[in-house]
This record gives sequence, C-alpha cells and structure tokens, in this order.
Amino acid sequence: MNEKRLPELRRAINRHSHLYHVLDRQEITDAQYDELMRELRAIEGEHPDLVTPDSPTQRVGEAPAAGFAEVQHSRPMLSLANAFDDDEFLAWHRRVADLLEREEFEMVCELKYDGLAVALTYEDGVFVRGATRGNGRVGEDVTSNLRTIRSIPLRVLGEAPARFDVRGEVYFPKSEFRKFNEDREAQGLQTYANPRNTAAGSLRQLDPRNTAQRPLDIFVYTIGYSEGAAYDTQWDTLEALAGLGFRVNGNNRLARSKEEALDFYHEWLEKFEDLDYGCDGVVVKVNELDYQRHLGDVGREPRWAIAYKFPATQVVTQLLDIRVNVGRTGSINPYAVLEPVVIGGATVKQATLHNEDYIRSKGLLIGDWVVVERAGEVIPQIVSVVTGRRTGDERPFEMPTTCPVCGRPVVRTEGEAMSYCTNPACPAQVARLLEHFVSRGAMDIEGMGGKTGVALIEQGLVQDVADLYYLEKESLLKLERMAEKSASNLLAGVERSKSRPLSRVLVALGIGHVGSEVADLLARHFGTMEALMAATEGDLAAIPTVGPKIAASVVAYFRSEANRKVIDRLRDAGVRLADEARAEPREQVLAGLRFVVTGRLPSFSRSEIEGRIKDLGGSVGSSVSRNTSYLVAGEDAGSKLADAERLGVEVIDEEMFLKLASGA
Ligand code: IVH
Repeated sequence: MNEKRLPELRRAINRHSHLYHVLDRQEITDAQYDELMRELRAIEGEHPDLVTPDSPTQRVGEAPAAGFAEVQHSRPMLSLANAFDDDEFLAWHRRVADLLEREEFEMVCELKYDGLAVALTYEDGVFVRGATRGNGRVGEDVTSNLRTIRSIPLRVLGEAPARFDVRGEVYFPKSEFRKFNEDREAQGLQTYANPRNTAAGSLRQLDPRNTAQRPLDIFVYTIGYSEGAAYDTQWDTLEALAGLGFRVNGNNRLARSKEEALDFYHEWLEKFEDLDYGCDGVVVKVNELDYQRHLGDVGREPRWAIAYKFPATQVVTQLLDIRVNVGRTGSINPYAVLEPVVIGGATVKQATLHNEDYIRSKGLLIGDWVVVERAGEVIPQIVSVVTGRRTGDERPFEMPTTCPVCGRPVVRTEGEAMSYCTNPACPAQVARLLEHFVSRGAMDIEGMGGKTGVALIEQGLVQDVADLYYLEKESLLKLERMAEKSASNLLAGVERSKSRPLSRVLVALGIGHVGSEVADLLARHFGTMEALMAATEGDLAAIPTVGPKIAASVVAYFRSEANRKVIDRLRDAGVRLADEARAEPREQVLAGLRFVVTGRLPSFSRSEIEGRIKDLGGSVGSSVSRNTSYLVAGEDAGSKLADAERLGVEVIDEEMFLKLASGA
C-alpha cells in the first residue's frame, strides 16, 4: 500500500468523475473507475489520518450542471457498496448477520439497472418535481423532461401518502437505442456510443421537446421519503409502488437465504445481456425496513444493501491496426485488430469498424487506446478513444485504392458509406457470397462449410453460386478431404435446397440492402422471380417500407447481365423461384390491434411474425404498455412477460396467434 499515490489517485478519480457526471463522457470503463476507488479506499483505510474532506470517497457525485435549477433531495440519494465475487457477497451477508444478531433474514434481489438515478416527488398524489441525483444531496430539476417519460405517472393511482418521493433509474431501451442510432446515421448525424450516456444526455436536454423524441423509460426501486404512510418491508414497498402505477421491474425476487440470493445473481449472470435495458449487476437489499434502520449507513453507502456486479463487458485495449476484408457484395470492410483482451470471459482480438465514416466519426487513429465493449452475441464494438493516452505516434487509416485480394480498383460512390471492389469475379467476393448463399437463413445447404467453398472456387468448379447446382460427384471426389459420403451429402443438400421459398432465394443472392425482412416483403408482393425482375424502381418504391435505396439496388442487381445469367441457370437447374402460396391481399383481421413479441417462437422468426402482423393490419410495438392488445410470448420470454402480467395485457402463444390471424 503506497500512500504516496493518494494525490495522484484522487486527481485521476476526480477527473473521471467530472467527465462522467458533468460532461456525460467517459475515458475509462466503470470497472477501471471502481478499481481506482477501491485502491483509494484501501489506502485511506490504512491511513485514516490522511483522509481529506475533498477526497472522492467523501462524496457521491458532482455538482449540477448550469442550466437547470437545483433541487435539494428530501433524503440524500446514496450509492451502493460493491461486491465482485461470491466471497465478497458472503462477507457482506456475514457482517449484516452479525449486526442483526441473526443468521437468517429476508432479502430482496433486484437487477441493477444501468441508467441514471432520479427522484420523483409527489404531493397529494400529483407528480410535482423530478430531479437527477447530482451530488446525492443536490440534483438538477429535470421535471419537464421526466414528464415526457410515459411510464412516470403524473398522478398516482389510488390512495397515496400526502407527500412522498420515489427513486428509480431512467434508461434508454437497447432496442430503441439501436433504432435511434440507425435513424441518426440515415440522417447523416453522429451516432451515440451507448444507451446510458444517451439517456443521461436526453434527460438533460434543455428543451423537453428534444427529450420527448427519445423513448426513455424508468424502473422505480424505492421510496426515498414519505409523509403519512409507511411500509414494513422493501418487498411491500415495491408492491405498493406498482399499485400506485409506477413501473416496477418484474424480475425482483424475495430471497430467504444467502444461497437463494446467490442463485438469483448466477441466474441473471447467464441471461442479463438479453434484457432490453442495460444491467450491470444485481442489488441485494435487506427486506425488513426496521432492520435497514438498525443497520444504517456508512459514509454514503447503506449497510443494508450491496451491488453484486457482473464482470465488466467494457475493457480498454490498444488498436494495433486497421485492416480490411472483402464482403460478398464487394464491399471493403474495415476492421480493428486489437491487442487481445478478455471481456466477460471471451478473448477479443478484433472489432468491426463498418466503414470509413464510422472510423472518422469515432476519431480513431491506429495505435490509439480504445474502450471496447462486448455485449451478448453482439460483435465487439469500439465505444470510444482514450485521447488522453495518445503519444503522437498514432496514424490515420487510409482506405486502400485497390482491392487487397484481386488488385482491381476500389470505388466509393457518392451517397454510399461503403467502398467497393469493382470486380464481380473477385475470388474473395465469390467466396463470401457462396458462404452466404449456403448459410442457414439463405439456401441452407448442409455439408457445405467455408473450406469446401474455397476449395470449389480454387479448383475452378464454382465461379458463381449457380455452379453449385451443376456439380458432379466425380469432380467433387477430386477435392482434398472429400470422400464418397461427404460428396453424396453435399449433393443431397444442394438438391433439397431447390425447394426453398422465393424469399430465401432473394436473401441468398446477396442483393444489396435486401435482408430477410425486405426479401419477405418482395416475395409476398411479387410472388415470382419473373414478376420481381420486371419491376421498375417506381413499382418497388411504391411498396410501403421499401425505400428508394432498396429499389435502386434491386433494379441494379437484375440489370446486370451476369446476375440474370445466374438466375436463368438456377431456374434451369430446377430451383423453385416462386413463393409458396401467395394469398391475394389479405383481410385486415388484425386491424387496430397492437402486438408485442417476446421470446423464441416455435416456427416464426421475429421478422416473419412482425411481417405477418403488419400484413394483416396490426401494429407491432417494442415494449408492453396499457395500449398493447396482446403479448405474443415464446420460449425464454423475459421481463415483458412480467410487464404484461402487471398491466393485465393478454399473453398468447404462437398457436393462439395463428388462430387470431386466421380470423377465427
Ligand atoms: S437502490 C441506497 N436499487 O445504483 C440504495 N439502486 O450505486 C439506493 N441502481 O444511485 C439505490 N438499480 O442509480 C438501487 N435496483 C436498484 C438499482 C439501483 C440501479 C443505481 C442507482 C444508485 C446506484 C448506486
């Protein structure tokens, strides 16, 4: 332990705290910040005489930003002590048990939402003021902005204490965040790094009309202060809050032992990334409020609660290089080569960089230290650059002017974010397209791994995807590692793929901007490949949700002689180029109904069922509200199920949905 580090540590922490809380910016990850705080606490613990009133351990956050009135909180908004492994959690439980002089006590297990803490004040049942946490004692008055959040009741339901103050966490739903960024990208605006900072920025917009454009939401988790009513336990408080009309998370659980609390943590560790909101751990709270009072606080942290954090999903590492590969449409895709780091249990060596503009908008230079995030199945992303660590030796990325595989020129047309290799026969392009063509969402040809594809191209057996349908066993057997059995399997797989519906063929062809959703739409609208090929840009753009970009891309695809030849040869080989059963314009049996879909359904993909709902006149929402008519729930449905139950929204399965959709 080195007390000489104290000033340096405090300076670093203060700086990062200011960046984070006042400027909504972040240069180090939460985990690294926690680590600095731990080190500081440890040193101060050993040298209590060196604790100064201005040490970051002596306060919670930062001063309110200019522009908003100050609000004094009725009771301070505290922070939480952290645990990072089971032992630390058990040590907390032990301390509490000792202080309460009892081995067993109930706990409420909640998720720790990663957003922004707020306090909502109600007088005579009416929402009168909302404030950010600020420094814990004084926050910013963001009442008008909070009023734009639909799940905050402006007047509570039923009987309420005369004056009370509710605490909760405001967040930006992850799905909405993706859409929000896509929209911004489409408008040529800068995209945001993560939902948390965006929520913070949104709540602190000086014009509430801006906030209203952003679909913020809230989970409330406690009553901070109340006049006139008291509940006995945290569990009762949560139930009372839900009863008053507040949005309480449906995953809360009452644990009767430390083992049950640990079970809750480990269950959520497995699945928290599937939630539609940021979550960075669980919070375990002693249930009895009498016990809570007895336990009291230490410094700015209550003894009666602990945040057991999930392992970091953001880590800082170095960007060693930016390289490119060639995509199936010939796009030149830049990617980051990173100094390998372990994030949430997996080693990350690369991150996607999308295109030149993305690299520029992040201000990335080769050699930079960067914050990398890995969430769920999502490909690792670079969140931001740690500009403070630049040495001056960093250098900008330059898009190559020739294809790194075939050497032909690379072009970037105006209005396009991507650069393309101009050679349709570029071996890299053909290999990528082949990989995509045979993949599961496309023609789903079993027995055709990436290596086989490359071998087929190298041996000259395949020059375009139609060649797959003209393969002969003898020539296949000449390939390395291709035995009689695997050759037969491959040919059988090819044969079976001939009956895939038109939408899958359209996906498989790899037409720019035509993913499964658009392919479904086109297949349903035109019914046959011929009809689609005959369509003009005008015909296409007239279809709702098909924009001019998609229309132009489809027409350009079919205008190409080479592509038309591929289609002809697919047809000649017996590939069915028509939709299964195209019904005439369907009756709008779902008109006026609002659906939300959650979990895995037995036979529909998400986009399929959403397409079906819209086709039949219904609408699809991303979160359950009182206006939702039905929640269609499949396997592993998450918090939406609880939301629906709480709001009394009818929950149906796929079978019941199909009944509804058939007009029965
Ligand atoms: S209770 C005195 N419950 O975590 C305890 N906080 O590090 C007050 N948070 O400022 C907090 N989810 O912003 C509580 N289920 C939850 C929470 C939660 C997220 C945040 C909150 C608080 C911070 C403390």
